[in-house]
Amino acid sequence: MQYKIGLLRGDGIGPEIVDSAVRVLEAVGNKYGHEFVFTPYLIGGAAIDATGKPLPEETVEGCLASDSVLLGAVGGPKWDILPGHLRPEKALLGIRAAMELFTNLRPAKLYPALKAECPLREDIVDKGFDIMIVRELTGGIYFGERGYRQGKYGEEAYDTECYSRMEIERIARVAFESARKRRKKLTSIDKANVLETSRLWRKVVHEVAAEYPDVEVQDMLVDNAAMQLVRNPSQFDVIVTSNMFGDILSDEASQITGSIGMLESASLGNTKRGLYEPIHGSAPDIAGQGKANPIATILSAAMMLLYSFDLAAESNAIVAAVDKVLASGLRTADIARGGDALSTTQMTDAIIAAL
Ligand code: IPM
Ligand code: MG
Repeated sequence: MQYKIGLLRGDGIGPEIVDSAVRVLEAVGNKYGHEFVFTPYLIGGAAIDATGKPLPEETVEGCLASDSVLLGAVGGPKWDILPGHLRPEKALLGIRAAMELFTNLRPAKLYPALKAECPLREDIVDKGFDIMIVRELTGGIYFGERGYRQGKYGEEAYDTECYSRMEIERIARVAFESARKRRKKLTSIDKANVLETSRLWRKVVHEVAAEYPDVEVQDMLVDNAAMQLVRNPSQFDVIVTSNMFGDILSDEASQITGSIGMLESASLGNTKRGLYEPIHGSAPDIAGQGKANPIATILSAAMMLLYSFDLAAESNAIVAAVDKVLASGLRTADIARGGDALSTTQMTDAIIAAL
């Protein structure tokens, strides 16, 4: 089979880690007899520099014409002074919206080989954890009305959160389906003691729950959830939450896995075409130095094989290769704690060798 993959390398360490994942995909293609055809498109700061726009039309058209899309990261200090609508981050929101990717899957699990990197207490680490965060991705405060106006104290800025019943229902269904395939426990995280959007969220999640009597559902307030994630992460199976809460809690979850450099993600809509990206950012401080951990992007490519192309064996082969490399003690700088660290290329070579 031939698969067309759009590449959005982006900024900072983006190009290095995307190229690592491409090499891994090519190795998988050779081994299993698939042809992956890669087409790069500009996004973020790189697109601003070349075209003046963070998300050129050709990029959107190219992504929509691809079978799936792999993204590195966008943003950096160079573009921080630009107004909101011209910032690199705007491109990320734009491509998610244009591709109608309302679901963001962010798995966070503790690798046995990385237990020592987990900052939590030993008895908590011993219990381990394996969490699937289902983050709503095209609604909420990220996409609500915003602006500046004159208020009681002069100039003020505002952002608004809005969720429709339809948006909550469809993300809830994805989360229940995911829970059904896992340990059948769903925690819905909101701030229903304060926010109207959260009260609708809670109501709709419980309505959808009626279709999934085999899944245990529980509500949790977001402040408590932030605490529970470090107090007792093993209690969670699937988490479903709004765009902003999911953004924040997934960074927290990444840290207890040992490194944000390890966490992959899949953004999905109603078609097989997805956008796959590491949850970390562009890390401008280490860009171009060959120090970045490519694992999150490589695992994102593995998610692409599974969710977009239904290539489960190929996807598992990548995951197994990463496990093997970590178990053998190989580390990039972010997880080496001062010990010997491999470069981005060396880590990629090791994973390809383990395939
Ligand atoms: C993420 C990032 C983005 C987000 C930023 C860069 C816009 O933090 O993917 O988690 O907030 O969604
Ligand atoms: Mg984030």
